[in-house]
Amino acid sequence: MTIAPESRPLLPVATTPHYARGKRAAATCYWKCADQCAHPAPNPSANEYFRDVASKALSRRVMLGGMAVAAGAVVIGAEAIGAEPAAASTLAGKGHGYGRGKGLSFGPIETQDWTVDDVVVPEGYEWSTIIRWGDPILPGGHAFDVTRQSPAQQARQFGYNCDYLDILPSNPRHLRSMVETRRGRRGLLVANHEYTNRDIMFDDSYDDATKRAIERAAHGMSVVEVVRRREGGPWDYLRVAPKNRRIHMDTEFTIDGPAAGTDAMRTVEDPTGTKVRGTLNNCAGGTTPWGTVLSGEENWHGYLITSGEDERDARYGIETGSTRYGWELDDPRFDTRNAGYENEKNRFGWVVELDPYDPTAAPVKHTALGRFKHEGANVIIAPDKRVVVYMGDDERFEYVYKFVSKNRMRDGDDRRTRAYNKTLLSEGDLYVAKFQGDSPAGEIDGSGSVPSDGAFDGTGEWLPLVVDGESAVDGMSVEEVLIWTRIAADRVGATKMDRPEDVEPNPFTGNVYVACTNNSQRGSAGREAATEMNPRNANRDGHIVEIVEGDQTSTWFAWNLLIVAGDPSVNDSTYFSGFPADKVSPISCPDNVAFDTDGNLWISTDGQPSAIQKCDGIFRVTLTGRERGNVEQFLSVPRSGEACGPLVDVRDKMVYVNVQHPGDDGSFAEPTSYFPDYLDEGERGPVGSWRGPRPSTVQVYKKHGGRRWW
Ligand code: FEO
Ligand code: CA
Ligand code: CA
Repeated sequence: MTIAPESRPLLPVATTPHYARGKRAAATCYWKCADQCAHPAPNPSANEYFRDVASKALSRRVMLGGMAVAAGAVVIGAEAIGAEPAAASTLAGKGHGYGRGKGLSFGPIETQDWTVDDVVVPEGYEWSTIIRWGDPILPGGHAFDVTRQSPAQQARQFGYNCDYLDILPSNPRHLRSMVETRRGRRGLLVANHEYTNRDIMFDDSYDDATKRAIERAAHGMSVVEVVRRREGGPWDYLRVAPKNRRIHMDTEFTIDGPAAGTDAMRTVEDPTGTKVRGTLNNCAGGTTPWGTVLSGEENWHGYLITSGEDERDARYGIETGSTRYGWELDDPRFDTRNAGYENEKNRFGWVVELDPYDPTAAPVKHTALGRFKHEGANVIIAPDKRVVVYMGDDERFEYVYKFVSKNRMRDGDDRRTRAYNKTLLSEGDLYVAKFQGDSPAGEIDGSGSVPSDGAFDGTGEWLPLVVDGESAVDGMSVEEVLIWTRIAADRVGATKMDRPEDVEPNPFTGNVYVACTNNSQRGSAGREAATEMNPRNANRDGHIVEIVEGDQTSTWFAWNLLIVAGDPSVNDSTYFSGFPADKVSPISCPDNVAFDTDGNLWISTDGQPSAIQKCDGIFRVTLTGRERGNVEQFLSVPRSGEACGPLVDVRDKMVYVNVQHPGDDGSFAEPTSYFPDYLDEGERGPVGSWRGPRPSTVQVYKKHGGRRWW
C-alpha cells in the first residue's frame, strides 16, 4: 500500500559549513524562536500536576455532561457525547454528508530522509506553487530579483516564511462554514509571514540597515486574490487586485479589549494605548465563521529588549542586551529601555484579527484573549452562539487556554452583521486548562508505557482567569491578568504541557485536539517529570491530546491521548489509540492541526529532521471506527522546511500547504534547497543565477489525464 514517490532530478546540493546538519537547522531556532529551546524554559512556577483531587465531584459532573471515557475506549468522538455536536448543527451546512466519508483517496507516501530537497506527493497527484516569497502583489511591485531587493519592493511583495494559510471565497456570503468555504473559482488567499533568515535572503551587496528594513517589510501577513478556471483545479494569484494587501511592521493596528488604553499599553508614540505599528512572528491562526482571520503573535520576545528591572519580563524570556534582528538600531521602540517606550513590549504577544474582505480596515489586537506566545487561535460556535476560541502557548511547560465570548454570534452576511460579529472577541471569559490523569502516578514512569487501564486519559477543568469582566486571580487586576497571562495562569495552577502549539476543535464533534510538539526538558533536573498527559521524559517526538468537551462553554472536560508520536520502527514508546504501530506512517513533532470536510484530522509537523531524521510533512489521522489512530503521510516538504497550514478540501480533492523555511540550514552562497524552482536534470541556469530557496504556498491536486488544467 505504500507508494514510492516519483523522484525529481535535482541539482547536486551544495555542502554548507554554515550551520549544523542533521537537525532542525540551527538557523531556524536562531531566527524563528530566539533559541528559546537553548535557554531554560521560563516557567519556574511550582504549580504541580495534581492527581485524584476532587475527582468525585469531577467525575459526577463529567458523566452528567453525557461523556463516557471508558478505559481503553477506542472511540471517543461525537457518538460519545450525549448531545448533538455543537458545531455540526451550527456550522456544517446541509446535504454534503459531512463526517461520513473517509475523505481524500490516496496511498501514503514513503517517509523521506531529511536531506531530500523535494515536495513529495502521493501517486496520482501533482503540485505547483500558488505564490512564492517576493512575488509582487501590489501596484508598483516588480518581479522578484534576489539581487535587487528593497524595503519598498518587499512591502509590495509576498512576505517571507509563510505559516498560517487559508483560501476564503471571494465573497463572505459564500462562507458557509470553516471547513466548507465554497471557494469556487475566485478566492482570497491569506498567509502569515512568521520570521526572516537574512543568511539565505541576501548576498553580500546589501548593507545591514537595508537588510533589516527589508526584513521588517517581509514580516506580517498577506492577502492575495486567486483565480482558477474550474473547481478542483490549480489556482493562480492576481498581481493586481482590489483586496491584495500586505501587513508589515509599519501597518497600523488597533488595540482593543479590557487592556486597551490602560497605562501599561501607552508609549510616547501612542499616548492612547490603543494603536500600534506592526505585528511580530505571526505563526499559526484560525478563520472565523464571519470571514476574518486570526493570527498568533508567537516568539515576539526575540525582537524587543527589556531592562530586566520588571521581573515579569523574565516569565516571557524577553531579550536583555541586544536582539538577533537588531531592529533597535533603527527604531527606538524595540529597545524598551528608551524613555517613553517602556511599554512597547506589552503591545506584542496578542491574537490579531484581520478582515481580508476590507483592505482599509486596521487589523485588531484583541487583549481579551491574553498575552503569551500565541501559536494560533481556533474558533468554534457553541450551541448558544457564543464564540469559543482555543489557544496554545508554544513553549516548554506552558499552557492551553480557552476564551468564551460574552456576546453571541449573529447569523447573516450583511455589512452590519459582519461588523457586529467582528466585535465578539473584544469581551469575554478567559480560562486555562488543568488536566488530571486517572491512573496511579507509579504507572506513569516517563517511558511512554501505557498504564494498566489501557489509556493515557482523565478529566480536567478550565480554570477561570477572567469571568464576567472581573479578574478571577487573587492580587491581579483584569488588565494585569491579560497582559501577564502566564503569571496569572501560574497562580491558579494550570497544567504544564509539552509545548502546546495548535489547539483546534473538530467542527463536526466539538472535540478539541492539542498538538504538543515536544519537550526535551521534561523530566530533566529540577523540571517536572512525566505526567499522564505528557507521559514521556525527554519528549522529542510530541503527542496529541484529545479533549472531549461536554459543551463548548463548560468548565469540565474529559481527555485522552490520541497519539504518542515517533517512528515506531525504532521507538517502542509510540501509541496510536490502539491502531497497530507497524501500520502507520512515522510522525514526530506535530505542530499545526486541521480538519478536512469529512472530519478527519490532519497534522503538519515541524522538527522531524531533528527527531527522526526525516523531512517534515503533512499526515491524515482517522478519528473514528476501526482505523482510529491510523496515520497516513500525504506530503513531504523539502529539506529543512516546515509544513504549515495545512488546508484540505475533500470536495475539490485538493490539499494546500505553506512550505516555511526550506533550506534554512544553508547560506546564500551555498543553498541546501532549490525549492520551488528546481531545474530539470542536466539544466543549468545562467552563471551567477540564484535558484532559491523561496518559502511558498503549495497546492496539490489530482493529475488530470495528462491534459492541462487551463
Ligand atoms: Fe511558530 Fe510554535 O511554531
Ligand atoms: Ca489512564
Ligand atoms: Ca508552528
